[in-house]
Amino acid sequence: MLDVSRLRAFSGIQPTADSLHLGNYLGALRQWVALQDDYDCVYSVVDLHALTVSPDPAALRTRVRATAAQFLAAGVNPEQSVLFVQSQVPEHTQLTWLLNCITGFGEASRMTQFKDKSAKLGDKGVTVGLFDYPVLMAADILAYDANVVPVGEDQRQHIELSRDLAIRLNSRFGEGTARVPEALIMQSTARIYDLQDPKAKMSKTGHPAGIIELLDSPKVITKRIKSAVTDSGTVIKWDPKNQPGLANLLAIYAALAGQTPEEVAQQYCGKLYGHLKVDLAELVIEALRPFRERTAEYLADPAALDGLLEEGREKAAAIAGAVYARIAERFGLTPRANRGPAA
Ligand code: TYM
Repeated sequence: MLDVSRLRAFSGIQPTADSLHLGNYLGALRQWVALQDDYDCVYSVVDLHALTVSPDPAALRTRVRATAAQFLAAGVNPEQSVLFVQSQVPEHTQLTWLLNCITGFGEASRMTQFKDKSAKLGDKGVTVGLFDYPVLMAADILAYDANVVPVGEDQRQHIELSRDLAIRLNSRFGEGTARVPEALIMQSTARIYDLQDPKAKMSKTGHPAGIIELLDSPKVITKRIKSAVTDSGTVIKWDPKNQPGLANLLAIYAALAGQTPEEVAQQYCGKLYGHLKVDLAELVIEALRPFRERTAEYLADPAALDGLLEEGREKAAAIAGAVYARIAERFGLTPRANRGPAA
């Protein structure tokens, strides 16, 4: 049951792949799980956002379930938190429209993720949906009156836009129209880098060799870590600026072992890079083994999974419905109940 006296957390992950990757897990999902005891948590499989990359419909359908199963396998507890599929709660798109009408074109054009993606796609490939992506994200957050949004560093600018829009709503329509959210970013794991290109965030390059997927087999994990790009140096030390490849491995190790990267570097001082890689592969494999098993269990019973998502949808719709009604009314939209009796 949701406890209204507690602060609320909202976050989402796109169902754009069969498996989430280590960046999603360390940058976001792990924080989601940890927040559950202290916050009222609402977590979403954001399938509407995934439409901006034109997924194959059958693949999208499969990936929505697969993503939800991975949230559960990571420890999102449906008894404690709300877990739902974004497109099943229409207030997300309704609120997006209201926010579209108070978002500047220039403001939306400045979003760096949009600029990066549209530069790659070129004029013909860029859709209005991709442009509007951050506004939909703001609607996700504001529709739940979220206080905090646990995400990785790459989402910071989008959360800033959500904050700006909430502040604008309050100044235009009166205090209490929207809650102003804050990003919750765990600095040590805010940015996990690509194993082949340690200057790009994991998954950005799209090359499989740079990514560790949470559902990868032990063999693949070992291969990926062994072939991770390190630096020309031979001394293991924590130096993210000059040794970014090594620093990425140390950061992953530290996050999974509950240590600081400096401590891990100290532990491996005088040893070869190869030692660190062998041990890190083992650590990742063991950390992900139960996750893989639990994901398979959830996916083996789609009816039960759909049942959990339906319960989540009901709870999410109750919150988003009330918040949307409040904001729409401030805009001057006429609520249905005020239409009066039919003639
Ligand atoms: P998405 O699906 O790209 O990523 C999901 C989460 O994983 C984090 N993340 C990373 N963290 C550290 N290192 C990385 N290499 C890395 N790659 C991804 C992301 O920061 C994110 O927290 N727009 C969002 C989804 C979204 C959302 C929302 C998030 C839609 N609506 C409302 C919060 C609130 C996105 O594309 O995340």
